[in-house]
Amino acid sequence: MHDVFTSDLLVGKVAFVTGGTSGINHHIALRYAKAGARVALIGRNVEKAEAAAAVVRKAGGEAVGLSADVRDYAGLEGAFKAVHDRWGEIDIVIAGAAGNFVAPVLGMSSNGFRTVIDIDLVGTFNTVRAAFAFLRRPGAAIIAISASHSTMPVAAQAHVCAAKAGIDMLIKSLSLEWGSQGVRCLGIAPGAVENTEGMRRLAPNGAENLQQIFASIPLGRQATRDDIADLALFLVSGAANYINGTIISIDGGSLNSGGQRIGEMLMASVEDARVERGHP
Ligand code: COA
Repeated sequence: MHDVFTSDLLVGKVAFVTGGTSGINHHIALRYAKAGARVALIGRNVEKAEAAAAVVRKAGGEAVGLSADVRDYAGLEGAFKAVHDRWGEIDIVIAGAAGNFVAPVLGMSSNGFRTVIDIDLVGTFNTVRAAFAFLRRPGAAIIAISASHSTMPVAAQAHVCAAKAGIDMLIKSLSLEWGSQGVRCLGIAPGAVENTEGMRRLAPNGAENLQQIFASIPLGRQATRDDIADLALFLVSGAANYINGTIISIDGGSLNSGGQRIGEMLMASVEDARVERGHP
């Protein structure tokens, strides 16, 4: 944990994390647990959810793993109720479940586009909508995991760009409706983050593609998962009490250099895959 944060910062708090079984979301949950929060990790697969919770417990935290698909409103509502019954009012919600694949618009069906909108955007709506009844009001904070895609167009990522832009506006609109209830609504928009499923999907050819991605980032490297967890911890701390209705970029300055190089690389990787499959 970064040394500006104390290990008892979140004692007594309850956090509900969708997509909490892996990647950034799991790392945020681990950070919250190390700061004293009880964390509920939600994923589609029950074994993976339980295993992810066991990792948090092994690190000394208190955690439970539950299965729900963010596309299934009733299932998600059931998970919120279960966590509320177990630990009481929910202080922190991380809406982090997401899906991605690399494809140009002409390489995906209407259903492919809708699938990502359903997981990312509708899934975030379902999460915040189902959360409300169980939130500590005033006091709760909601953080949606957006992406630099929400403001920086990237070729072969139109579905994700559209979904993440929608998430940003959902969060901003929500801040107008729920601010008076004392619920802060926020987004975190990471760029490239190391050791994540997203990066494995965006850089399937490994080191060479990664070097091209780094070259387009002003700080010259990807974020670590710790970088993201530090921001997520700050945003739910008392030091961020007056931050509301905004999406915070954490991308090493990538927005300023643009997504063109990454898009060209992704389009080339789709083309290479087509050639390998024997398509003209
Ligand atoms: N290119 C084009 N279309 C694709 C695709 C690809 N690489 N991968 C999936 N699709 C399309 C499918 O063809 C299908 O459309 P169709 O019915 O018209 O053929 C549609 O997307 C849904 O695919 P399906 O596999 O049924 O969806 P799912 O709900 O099982 O999985 C995904 C959702 C596709 C997003 C899957 O990759 C997933 O579950 N991802 C979660 C993890 C993840 O993406 N992590 C990274 C987060 S950044």
